[in-house]
Amino acid sequence: MPDRKPIYVLNGPNLNLLGTREPHIYGHATLADIEQACVARAGQLGFTVDFRQSNIEGELVNWLQEARDNAGAVVLNAGAYTHTSVALHDAIKAISIPVIETHLSNPATREDFRHVSLVGKAAKGVIAGFGATSYLLAIEAAALLANESKGA
Ligand code: DQA
Repeated sequence: MPDRKPIYVLNGPNLNLLGTREPHIYGHATLADIEQACVARAGQLGFTVDFRQSNIEGELVNWLQEARDNAGAVVLNAGAYTHTSVALHDAIKAISIPVIETHLSNPATREDFRHVSLVGKAAKGVIAGFGATSYLLAIEAAALLANESKGA
């Protein structure tokens, strides 16, 4: 379906270090491995993926704004900004496309400061705790929601 918009997969701070960063929590897959797996799964579902990472909060805000016109749905692992960023919360509220909050770990089982999600209060839904597989489940949800909003 050539007119389908891509799924944006946006990654926040420290996720560029996956593979070596606390592997007992986040696993051994690198972000490049996860990108490859997302592209493959999305491809099976008829979607392309625009996969990005930034350590800068404002860059993630800019990308969410860009997604409003250019993406069918967004998979967002905002990393630590999940728990702190009113700006990301507001950006998600400002765009009408579905945003799926995604985490490798399950923040609900971790430190208290991870129990609040400002992203989650604006997102369509949350997928967390399945390691790198969380991204693939999120791609499935994103494809479903993008199809729904296009009336497919
Ligand atoms: C994370 C969970 C966050 O609490 C943490 O700050 C991260 C990664 C995850 O994918 O499990 O950077 O978003």
